[in-house]
Amino acid sequence: MNPVTVYAPATTANLGPGFDCLGMALDLWNRLDVTIPASGQASAVVEVSGEGEGELPADDTNLVYRAMRFLFDEAGLDPPPLHLRCENRIPLSRGLGSSAAAIAGGLVAANHLSGGPFNPNELLEMAATIEGHPDNVAAAVLGGLRLVVGDGPQLYTVPIDVPEDIQAVLLVPDVRISTEDARRVLPDRVTVADAVYNMGRVGLLVAGMATNHPEYLSVATEDRLHQPHRQAIFPPMKLIFRAARDAGALGVFLSGSGSTIMALTLGREMTVAYEMFEAARITGVECKLLVVSPTPKGAHLEARPE
Ligand code: HSE
Repeated sequence: MNPVTVYAPATTANLGPGFDCLGMALDLWNRLDVTIPASGQASAVVEVSGEGEGELPADDTNLVYRAMRFLFDEAGLDPPPLHLRCENRIPLSRGLGSSAAAIAGGLVAANHLSGGPFNPNELLEMAATIEGHPDNVAAAVLGGLRLVVGDGPQLYTVPIDVPEDIQAVLLVPDVRISTEDARRVLPDRVTVADAVYNMGRVGLLVAGMATNHPEYLSVATEDRLHQPHRQAIFPPMKLIFRAARDAGALGVFLSGSGSTIMALTLGREMTVAYEMFEAARITGVECKLLVVSPTPKGAHLEARPE
């Protein structure tokens, strides 16, 4: 049989104030090729190239395969033997949704192989169950900029238009930060003043994007709930934020739980990237830079020519 090919996007979560409830897909993709060998046991052989090569598991414990198993179980189907080839371009543990992409890619592939029993919202619910937070997976499964709100097991998700030509400058440090570690530094309680600060900014961010007022993003990407605490595990943040703003970024924030710092821009991408890189260099942060567009597309099967 022909391999099933699925692309799954990188994603950024929070966008500053929208802790655990905003996610946006980025035009940077992992590719997954799935074949069903003619014979074999219901298990997986996984080949990984690119990001995570020699590091991510090559067997049943691989997250892509676990997501596929999850869907087969939900569908009440016996999983077939599988051969997975993962060509990864999304850096790991940098706040760019590598695990959300693995889950979304695995679910889309398994849904196709099962005859498509689940709709995209059902795939999202499965993805959120596997991942634990819905923000990255909402964007990875459905694409675009998404508000996602959980009410018990029910997820409400709303697509938000992004003004044309907005670009994302990503400063991707060599240093990794696990989401688990980055959540451990957060306080259990916040003040009403800080909650109000963030609520207003999430509203402003959504309204600014949807009504094409990118100038709101300067204020609308500020946050008091998580970034000030995470600064303790990644002190250069502050200087790199200031460099991005001074260079003309619309707004700047920690991508998800970090370590990537993301600036949104309308023009001046190279200046913003250069100044962020300089600030990183001064603070001793080794990093690479990427400039990517938001994408309206989520994880999808490769369209084959007719
Ligand atoms: N919103 C999460 C956090 C990261 O900031 O911890 C992505 O799920």
